Amino acid sequence: MRQQLKVIQYGLGPIGAAAARLIVERPDLALVGGVDVDPAKVGFDVGTIIGLDHPLGIKVVERLAQVEAEADVVLHTTSSYFDLFKTQLIEILEAGLDVVSTSEELSFPWLAHPEDAAEIDAVAQLTGQTVLGTGVNPGFLMDALPLFLTAISQRVDRIAMTRVVNASLRRGPFQAKIGAGMTVDDFNTKMAAGRMGHVGLPESVGMVFATLGHTLVKYETDVKPIVAEELVKTAYFEVQPGQVRGLKQVARGYTESGEFMTLTFIAALDEPNEGDTVRLYGRPDLEVKLQGTNGDIATVAIAVNALRRVHEAAPGLVTMRDIPMVTV
Ligand SMILES: NC(=O)c1ccc[n+]([C@@H]2O[C@H](COP(=O)([O-])OP(=O)(O)OC[C@H]3O[C@@H](n4cnc5c(N)ncnc54)[C@H](OP(=O)(O)O)[C@@H]3O)[C@@H](O)[C@H]2O)c1
Repeated sequence: MRQQLKVIQYGLGPIGAAAARLIVERPDLALVGGVDVDPAKVGFDVGTIIGLDHPLGIKVVERLAQVEAEADVVLHTTSSYFDLFKTQLIEILEAGLDVVSTSEELSFPWLAHPEDAAEIDAVAQLTGQTVLGTGVNPGFLMDALPLFLTAISQRVDRIAMTRVVNASLRRGPFQAKIGAGMTVDDFNTKMAAGRMGHVGLPESVGMVFATLGHTLVKYETDVKPIVAEELVKTAYFEVQPGQVRGLKQVARGYTESGEFMTLTFIAALDEPNEGDTVRLYGRPDLEVKLQGTNGDIATVAIAVNALRRVHEAAPGLVTMRDIPMVTV
């Protein structure tokens, strides 16, 4: 059997807890630490916090430096935004650990955050560690998957990808970030201020353009609320008619010849017709449909599956286009 990789789970929200459970399940991985700042979690047994029916004999600590066990790699799941997670990544790299993170802005930071990306890359090179941002989206559905599909095309003129998510089946923080239960005015104000909605569309466009060697001459994005026509209830929200039950976000990337990439992200409570469709137009026209991509299960899977690839990769900031194919 392969040598066990020793993993610290950094961030124990719904995604981090599910990742930790999967790490415990995998014979080739060992969970050796749990980090989270939430006072409701610090000091408690990691097993209890992640929902196991038995303790693991490891306490949740507030800072990485407080983890006593030796480790190989960190699975980082605290935040989507560079200004919040950058110092955490530097702390992990400087502790001599590789890191896989679900932070959306890390999935391909070279377009939207080039200076931050260069800084992280420099620290990773200096410390001899590897850092990857991944997840279902960004990290797979709207970037790595369409790029992989171009391998069987002779020519690609345009790429379109649509993801429809029934958010009623997703975790609370996800329902919150798509605006569930807000008034339309609140939604528009909060969206204009940032820190809401799906994060990752510029990252996906950036990865595809850079990998195919296209120059992005224009990037457009648009977001609209989807309003409830009747009462919608989930485990986390009760949405009255007239309130927001989700959103539709569209991003368009243009080359000098026109619109090359169109990404449509629809996520709402009780949204019908869940599914993912990738279309490549060219020679040939190709359509690939996926049913059953539960974003939370998929994100945890791809992040955990990437741990060994990242541990074995050359030092630096890498993205899903840079490492060998991630598999179960
Ligand atoms: N790429 C993708 O496809 C994808 C898919 C799913 C999720 N994600 C991202 O993955 C991340 C995790 O998701 P989630 O739903 O589990 O988020 P969450 O509910 O916000 O959980 C994050 C956890 O990390 C803790 N935390 C925050 N700052 C910390 C710090 N400095 N040190 C240690 N712990 C810290 C939080 O504590 P407090 O609650 O006290 O702040 C919370 O317990 C989010 O950024 C999410 O957007 C990405």
